[in-house]
Amino acid sequence: MRLLKRLPASFWGIIRFSQRFQSNGRPTAPLGSRILLDPDKVFDHNMWDHMQWSQEEEERAKDKARENSLVRIQPELQDKYESEASQYWNEFYKTHRNNFFKDRNWLFLEFPEILPEEARVHCMEVDTRIREDNCCCENNPAIKMSSAHNVGSCSDCSAATPPSVKQSGDEFPGSDATYRILEVGCGAGNSVIPILRATCNIPRVFLYCCDFASEAVELVKSHPFFDPSRCLAFVHDVSDDASPYPFPDQSLDIILIIFVLASLHPDRIQGTVNRLARLLKPGGMILFRDYGRYDLSQLRFKKGACLSENFYLRKNGTRVYFFTKDEIHNLFSSAGLIEVQNEMDQRLQVNRKKKMKMYRVWIQSKFQKPLPMSQSKQESCSM
Ligand SMILES: C[S@@+](CC[C@H](N)C(=O)[O-])C[C@H]1O[C@@H](n2cnc3c(N)ncnc32)[C@H](O)[C@@H]1O
Repeated sequence: MRLLKRLPASFWGIIRFSQRFQSNGRPTAPLGSRILLDPDKVFDHNMWDHMQWSQEEEERAKDKARENSLVRIQPELQDKYESEASQYWNEFYKTHRNNFFKDRNWLFLEFPEILPEEARVHCMEVDTRIREDNCCCENNPAIKMSSAHNVGSCSDCSAATPPSVKQSGDEFPGSDATYRILEVGCGAGNSVIPILRATCNIPRVFLYCCDFASEAVELVKSHPFFDPSRCLAFVHDVSDDASPYPFPDQSLDIILIIFVLASLHPDRIQGTVNRLARLLKPGGMILFRDYGRYDLSQLRFKKGACLSENFYLRKNGTRVYFFTKDEIHNLFSSAGLIEVQNEMDQRLQVNRKKKMKMYRVWIQSKFQKPLPMSQSKQESCSM
């Protein structure tokens, strides 16, 4: 395995994406470029990127986590939160509908791999329009946007032949697509809907999304931009090994896992990652973002909310784990994937009104399934 790690990414056919730069020469990605150089200016912005913690700050965070983990929730109660996990998330979506999470509009900047290579330029062009909350169909001035606009019936969108959702013999929903994306734990569709909007002009892209909370899946399906000819939304528990997917192994180009693995019981995460890795085509990629160790939300837990080390119960019955970079590396490498990116996203979030500073920590990663030896050699020769 050590030898595998030492081989250059190009050997595996891994595509490294050039960093894009702002006009001032600073990279806009990965993970932002607003660096706090002058501490006196800390309250000038709401967020600062790439914050390094001092040793003192790190020790203080460790102490807080140690303190709030002293009391553990009883085992019988822990079993209940595991067996009824989907019900707690269902209640969450009944209460909050689609008003809790924001659309993940940073997706295309941080994860350009979401789209087929030939479509990335188009996506970057539409990126600004999506940020401004318009459909990519806005490039056609004849199309007036309204919340009732359905991409499935939009003439601009349907100019591209969408893959059909039919099933017979070897066929499966999206089987005639050439590029397939799955989002697991899709929630109310805060990634799915922006992806559907960005891909409405791109032929042969098919999107699958699942969540074990049926309320969430219904929210996605009832969104005005949901298009059943380009997307299949279904109820599925990713941690249930026995539950089949509506497509075969090795059929996906991209799997998106955004703030989902942290909700699983730590004992079930490796099995889940192994199963997901099998769904990827050789060369396919998992794009991941989740909570990092000692994030503000971990340190804010009170005594009595700890389930096990770095795993906590929220007041609403949902659970959250806080990962380190090494844990993420080990999880995905053990599933046979190669690390392309694995970064701690450490930010300083600022409440300018209350003059409060909050340290946020997330992990953002990309892991790729190796290409068969013969194919990766061929690709590196033609470079
Ligand atoms: C924090 S939310 C994130 C939702 C979405 N990915 C986003 O970024 O907005 C976590 C989601 O994971 C889902 N989830 C948790 N455990 C799951 C499981 N075992 N199988 C499928 N979905 C799960 C929850 O229902 C919830 O929608």
